[in-house]
Amino acid sequence: MIATAAFVIAFLVVGVTVVALAFGGGPRGARRNLHGQSRSNNRVAITATVLATIAFGAGIPVAVIAANTDNQSKQAPGGVKLSEAQQDGRKVFAKNCSTCHTLKSANAVGKVGPDLDQLRPVAALTLNAIEEGRARGMGQMPAGLIDGEDAKHVASYVAATAGRD
Ligand code: HEC
Repeated sequence: MIATAAFVIAFLVVGVTVVALAFGGGPRGARRNLHGQSRSNNRVAITATVLATIAFGAGIPVAVIAANTDNQSKQAPGGVKLSEAQQDGRKVFAKNCSTCHTLKSANAVGKVGPDLDQLRPVAALTLNAIEEGRARGMGQMPAGLIDGEDAKHVASYVAATAGRD
């Protein structure tokens, strides 16, 4: 979100600078004006510059943001539509689980624990693994990494997306 805001502000600054230059015309523009170049010509050029600046300076960032918010949050591989809880679960997974587990829908490639795309755990199994941890021979998963809503959301998210592509 902060990166997006910075991007938009940078674009607006560039846009405003271009407008200012167009209106000011710089030293050369001022001299040209003194020598009586047609004012209406100038106005057309300024209007075109302003319109182009608005179109690029504001239109493109707005379009990019609109496209991103729609695509990134709801869509998961395999045409799965995520609920809000599952979208939250994706964030929780990225933060707490991706270092150890592979899960394509979260771009996670961890190799410490089992590949969740192959295991395709139902939500109850994931919840149990989170609650009690696991230590059966292929390393360890600590108990209680997360709890409450976070655990429910991540379990639902994994169940919805594991093994899809
Ligand atoms: C420190 C590494 C690590 C982290 C972090 C981790 N896991 Fe695990 N996980 C493992 C290991 C290792 C196993 C397998 C243990 C075994 O069965 O020997 C495992 C097993 C599992 C299983 C299978 C349980 C079963 O009974 O088959 C699920 C589901 C799972 N993890 C989900 C998660 C989720 C969701 C998170 C994030 C909240 C998470 N893991 C975080 C290492 C980790």
